[in-house]
Amino acid sequence: MSGGTGSAIDVRRLDAAEAEARLSELADILVDAVAHGASVNFMAGFTPESASAFWRSQLAAVADGSRQILVGDDGRRLVGTVVLTFAPQPNAPHRAEIGKMLVLSTLRRQGLGRRLLLAAEAAAREAGRTLLLLDTESGSAGDRLYRSCGWIEYGRVPGHALTPDGRLAETTMFYKRLGQ
Ligand SMILES: CC(C)(COP(=O)(O)OP(=O)(O)OC[C@H]1O[C@@H](n2cnc3c(N)ncnc32)[C@H](O)[C@@H]1OP(=O)(O)O)[C@@H](O)C(=O)NCCC(=O)NCCS
Repeated sequence: MSGGTGSAIDVRRLDAAEAEARLSELADILVDAVAHGASVNFMAGFTPESASAFWRSQLAAVADGSRQILVGDDGRRLVGTVVLTFAPQPNAPHRAEIGKMLVLSTLRRQGLGRRLLLAAEAAAREAGRTLLLLDTESGSAGDRLYRSCGWIEYGRVPGHALTPDGRLAETTMFYKRLGQ
């Protein structure tokens, strides 16, 4: 695994009860990402209340096992997230999506993003999901992270989503096939 400060941080899965208990910490990470310009579905001015509502909306799926939230935990607070969602379609029992790949802005470039992503890949493999999909703003830190972890670009859509400050930006789609 990566070295640096990131290695002092525990990467683990939250169950639904702990996710609910720690909604405000999850919300802080999401608000921080949006405030620093990340294109993760939300616009500038995004509030902790709205971020908590987003995470609350994930809890039922965490409880029923169709979604996993993995986090970085420094022992005092949660500092990073990644969400793994299993495809529900009967013809896609091998597929899953990655989302909300977030590291607190003060802790970036220390290897935590890569550790979270590899942990999500391992969790997918363990669940028998061998084809992973995600998308991200073209040229973003996420774009660089995914390429560095062996993800393969399969398309780009110009003007796919607004950045938090309201500019239309291109999205790049990636996939990764996991070995058994
Ligand atoms: C994307 C994100 C999670 C990366 O987290 P991180 O902890 O900084 O990533 P890591 O330190 O593990 O980086 C691993 C590798 O990814 C690449 N990388 C990550 N951020 C990069 C950046 N800003 N510029 C260039 N390469 C980058 C590098 O290859 C890096 O390895 P290196 O540091 O040895 O060069 C973080 O930047 C983030 O939270 N961004 C905002 C949210 C977001 O856009 N998420 C993705 C869309 S869902």
